[in-house]
Amino acid sequence: MKILSIESSCDETAVSVCEGREILSSVIATQVAEHRIYGGVVPEIASRRHTEAISAVCEQALAEAGIGYSDIEAVAVTFAPGLIGALLVGVNFAKGLAMSLGVPLIPVHHLRSHIAANYIDNPDLKPPFLCLLVSGGNTVICEVTDYTKFSIIGQTCDDAAGECFDKTARAMGLSYPGGVMLDKIATKADVKTYPLPYPKAHSGEFDFSFSGLKTAVINLIHNKTQKGEELDVPVIAATVRQKVCDMLIDKTMAAAEKFGYKTIAVAGGVSANSELRLRLEEECRKKGISLYRPELKYCGDNAAMVGVQAYYEYLSGNIADTSLNATATLPIDYR
Ligand code: KG4
Repeated sequence: MKILSIESSCDETAVSVCEGREILSSVIATQVAEHRIYGGVVPEIASRRHTEAISAVCEQALAEAGIGYSDIEAVAVTFAPGLIGALLVGVNFAKGLAMSLGVPLIPVHHLRSHIAANYIDNPDLKPPFLCLLVSGGNTVICEVTDYTKFSIIGQTCDDAAGECFDKTARAMGLSYPGGVMLDKIATKADVKTYPLPYPKAHSGEFDFSFSGLKTAVINLIHNKTQKGEELDVPVIAATVRQKVCDMLIDKTMAAAEKFGYKTIAVAGGVSANSELRLRLEEECRKKGISLYRPELKYCGDNAAMVGVQAYYEYLSGNIADTSLNATATLPIDYR
């Protein structure tokens, strides 16, 4: 079944053609350069750029897959969660396309599609498994009990891990997207024992809290700047990266042990983090756990992962009609 999938939840306009887990094309028009001058994503600009790019990106995805509109058997779209104006562009384009072609419209939850990025190059991966989902807006540990069934074990009670990286990177003077830059620069330095906290969420055993760490790093930088002390940015970056990874890895491994999982997947933009990938691999090897990570090109937002998840949503009967609307916030276990 050839599915044309659309992603526009943040600052990438992406369209892909997939057949099951096979990717026939995956095209991404990124807006990163434009948002960089503002230090972060400007939602209004994001929506406008999606509107301008979406038709051309769709045409290119079809051309690269070597098919025409008449070959499309279903249209899938990210409908939640994300920037509402940005989501609306993809949702309305998808609705129009599905209606004009007379094919099913498949709504895809953005976080579910990040998890599905793991299916692309790992034909052997199938539920049940435990997933650490770390992106710019979410940090969740969940059980993937089936392709469309999720159970949240823990989540952040304030900032996401990606936000902690992005905001501390900004305070260090690194350019957007901060997490990527922080990771690069941290690799060149050793960790130092700055007096940074290891915040604990009081809500649940597997919940996270990153806002205390974020504030402590920003205060540390302001203090040093005010005293005229030189900032050793690579060392601070390496220290922050280590702290965040400690929290993510400790809780994930503890959750795997408590719930008896021997397979772990990591997903979302932060799954591209080099320290997280390496250390999780080491920990899993020690404990005899199989670890799955998406290929780097599928860690960030893309439409290939949307198409793959859409296939399973379709099989489970998750089909929308033209009343489908975009939703800014929605838990992964919404259905
Ligand atoms: O999943 P994603 O592309 O978008 C959302 O759905 O949120 O995640 C974006 C987040 C940003 O916070 C970005 O800084 C972070 O992923 N990120 C990284 C790395 N690459 C992307 N964070 C740490 N290290 C990286 N290598």
